[in-house]
Amino acid sequence: MSNLRGENLWKIYGEVEAIRGVNIEVEEGEIVVIFGPSGSGKTTLLNLLALLDKPTRGRIYLDGRDITDIGEREASEIRNRNFGFIFQLFHLIPELTVIENVYLPLWIREKNNFKINQYKKDAERLLEEFGIGEKANLFPSQLSTGEKQKVAICRSLICKPNIIFADEPTGSIDKDSARVFFEMVKYLNEKMGITFVIVTHNEKFLHLATKAVYLNEGIIKRVEKIKKG
Ligand SMILES: Nc1ncnc2c1ncn2[C@@H]1O[C@H](COP(=O)(O)OP(=O)(O)OP(=O)(O)O)[C@@H](O)[C@H]1O
Ligand SMILES: [Mg+2]
Repeated sequence: MSNLRGENLWKIYGEVEAIRGVNIEVEEGEIVVIFGPSGSGKTTLLNLLALLDKPTRGRIYLDGRDITDIGEREASEIRNRNFGFIFQLFHLIPELTVIENVYLPLWIREKNNFKINQYKKDAERLLEEFGIGEKANLFPSQLSTGEKQKVAICRSLICKPNIIFADEPTGSIDKDSARVFFEMVKYLNEKMGITFVIVTHNEKFLHLATKAVYLNEGIIKRVEKIKKG
């Protein structure tokens, strides 16, 4: 499940037309990068595609099925089963340890307390893959920004998503962590087949993108397909 299509999407907040008639397609295996100045509607568009918000007008299709009018319960199930999220400020829960933050989505999905040890093992394995296994029992406040980002990435991966949505993922980290992040996206896309939708100001993402979408004042001005290899 990972072909997403938005058709003539509008999002209107009172007087503000944040998204104005956007058509966008995210195909399996793509890295779609949405560029645009502040206030151009990037986060709004991401939230519509990720089923975190409903369009005022227009349709959303997932693998050809019109899912615009599904209820919140089904939307959250689709998100939980198929999507991973990396938010700009990571949204880690300060009262939970690193490992608890990572397996939280899995617990939310299954709520099976008999499987907590399995959840922990899965989370541990991810943390180790990302080189922060020894931080598992610390709290987010005890981590560097780059480490927090890795925790957020592990959390986005724990449910084995088909698509990862990332909103300005390198917005608050230094250049080295950003480089690690680029490599990670490339690896996850090429080796694990994960599709990405990334919203950013960072032009460096152009090197990763298979499709660059330029948004301005709620309208897509240009779409560039980028051939790899
Ligand atoms: N919940 C909301 N209520 C009212 N207006 C909103 C809401 N969310 C966004 N907007 C407006 O919609 C427009 C687009 O906002 P959005 O957050 O999508 O921009 P953005 O491209 O993500 O900007 P940035 O790069 O600064 O994060 C802005 O004018 C914003 O003020
Ligand atoms: Mg934004």
